[in-house]
Amino acid sequence: MGWKSLFGNPWPTPAISAGKRALRERHPAPQRPPVKPVWPAGVPAYLVEHYWWAYVHPRAVKFWERQWLINLILFGNFVKLRDAALAELGGQLTGRTLQVAAVYGDFTPKVAERLAPGATLDVVDVLPVQLDNLRRKLRPDAPIVLHLGDSTALGFESGTFDQVIVFFLLHEQPPGVRERTLAEAVRVVRPGGKLLVVDYHEPSKWHPLHLVLLKPILRRLEPFCPALWAHEIREWLPRGFVPQHMAKETFFGGLYQKVVITV
Ligand SMILES: C[S@@+](CC[C@H](N)C(=O)[O-])C[C@H]1O[C@@H](n2cnc3c(N)ncnc32)[C@H](O)[C@@H]1O
Repeated sequence: MGWKSLFGNPWPTPAISAGKRALRERHPAPQRPPVKPVWPAGVPAYLVEHYWWAYVHPRAVKFWERQWLINLILFGNFVKLRDAALAELGGQLTGRTLQVAAVYGDFTPKVAERLAPGATLDVVDVLPVQLDNLRRKLRPDAPIVLHLGDSTALGFESGTFDQVIVFFLLHEQPPGVRERTLAEAVRVVRPGGKLLVVDYHEPSKWHPLHLVLLKPILRRLEPFCPALWAHEIREWLPRGFVPQHMAKETFFGGLYQKVVITV
């Protein structure tokens, strides 16, 4: 069963008898234009075209909001990568934190648990359905504001966040969008603040999963990923931007990376 039949068609064709089928074949119904679902305005084309099955369709959200499943997709590395990101941010998060794009599983609730008294978390996502889903995972009294917005045009003042987190977003974006996302992320971090990126990284060609699984699966399901890992994260940063410090760590034989940029 393909993703389309799982999520895409809310009115599946009912089973019909052989007699009815023969009648239909002799007198085919006139071709009607396909009915396209109407997505909310402002949703980027790449999400609708390539990721409707993961994020856009309400049934997809219900299906994927299972941490064990996300962990499976990450070959058992979700907790390791989540905790590496959290450790980078420190035991307690002070000041203002921005998370660009929602994440399935308990990533954001775990970030929220680390907010020091007076600290705040803002999360921006371009899909209302994702923000609704995230809201259900958070304590109602947590100092968190969810914003409907695009990573390429963050509506925040420059230099106003102490830390910005971009967790597994960049590999889903076409190159131009990815560059604009990073330019915005860098813009909103205060001087001396941190930009934390966790995402795919090109594994060595000896990685056991490389040929068997990664190339065929990623080419089909994650079409913008190979362009991401063909370059270092620093190459996607805005031209002329000189970070105070940058550190990269790789995980799981080089398939994932955590990059910390001190602005
Ligand atoms: C962070 S990424 C992938 C995270 C990871 N695969 C997971 O486990 O959920 C998924 C989110 O990015 C959001 N997203 C994609 N493009 C965006 C954009 N241009 N601006 C804001 N959010 C975006 C999607 O709506 C979705 O909620």
